Amino acid sequence: MIKYSHRTTVASLAALLISVSAHAAGINWASVPGKEVVMFYPGQASWEWALTPSDMSGGEDFRKGKDCAICHIGEEKDMGPQIVTGAARVFKTGEKPSIEPTPIAGKPGAVAATVKLANDGTDLYVHIEFNEGAQPDSKMDPAYATKVSVMFDDGKVPEVNRGGCFAACHDDSAGMASGAGANRTMYLPKTRAKLSRKGGGDALAAPDKLAGLQADGYQLEFWQALLNPGQPAKSATQLVFDKRAAAPSNIVTADATQSGGTWSVTIKRPLAAAAPFSAITAGNTYYMGFALHSGHTAQRFHYVSYERSFSLNDGKTDLVAVKQ
Ligand code: HEC
Repeated sequence: MIKYSHRTTVASLAALLISVSAHAAGINWASVPGKEVVMFYPGQASWEWALTPSDMSGGEDFRKGKDCAICHIGEEKDMGPQIVTGAARVFKTGEKPSIEPTPIAGKPGAVAATVKLANDGTDLYVHIEFNEGAQPDSKMDPAYATKVSVMFDDGKVPEVNRGGCFAACHDDSAGMASGAGANRTMYLPKTRAKLSRKGGGDALAAPDKLAGLQADGYQLEFWQALLNPGQPAKSATQLVFDKRAAAPSNIVTADATQSGGTWSVTIKRPLAAAAPFSAITAGNTYYMGFALHSGHTAQRFHYVSYERSFSLNDGKTDLVAVKQ
């Protein structure tokens, strides 16, 4: 809404409208259809855990070709709340052990977001609106109350195309069940010499294999908005290959406002980006996962979504970045 005094002349109002629309970069979010993406609290659910049928009974069907999203989208509001308490989990088929050994008392189990994508031919815009509810302060990350992460896979990481963020989240990463005090970050499955039920450890694949994977674009981009109420958003770009690390340059910017407990966050990323980043072009299918650290949490104490496909302009993908 544009506020102006009753004495504003027609000419100055016209000038005001022009400058406002230029500033807003042309994206009229009201006209972009939104999709619900529910982020849920996953506890210590790792890639290896999910692929082990005695731990997660869909593991066998996943190995046969059924993606996580097919079984699970629509259930996240039930999953998160029963994982987050740290109690044994109850299903129609019986009880399963807790996958959260150190629960944060009073933490909500899931956060529903409305996601809108758009592009203006130059940049991709990811618009995420959510209310994180009453979040206890975990004091893990004093610098930021809330962090919104978009994981981008340009289609060249087959495990992530099918399993989203989970393919980068391993049983021996920091704070996970087989972490044993290690400070290991996220990593991609094929960067390890071998994966066992406990993860891949520190033994990497052979150097020529790693070089080949990198040449084939086997990596993820992480786009982050770093938020504190009442302060301008900050942004960060990271890459995940054999570890998660800051990208050589930060190619995203973030904007955020908060009103009545609802955050409205926009992450902007150029469509054309030089190596090591991927160019985003029409006619291709890409994948996105969303994560949310709320209540000053860090590392695994976040909410995550299952994977969503997306494309530019039009297509049959879960999300479409409409042209404006
Ligand atoms: C064939 C369907 C199917 C597929 C595919 C599948 N799952 Fe599951 N998942 C289940 C079922 C059924 C359960 C209920 C618990 C159980 O029986 O193990 C479950 C439970 C879970 C839970 C715990 C939910 C809770 O409330 O405690 C998580 C987390 C999970 N799955 C993650 C994944 C991930 C990640 C993938 C992909 C790598 C995946 N699932 C693929 C069927 C599936």
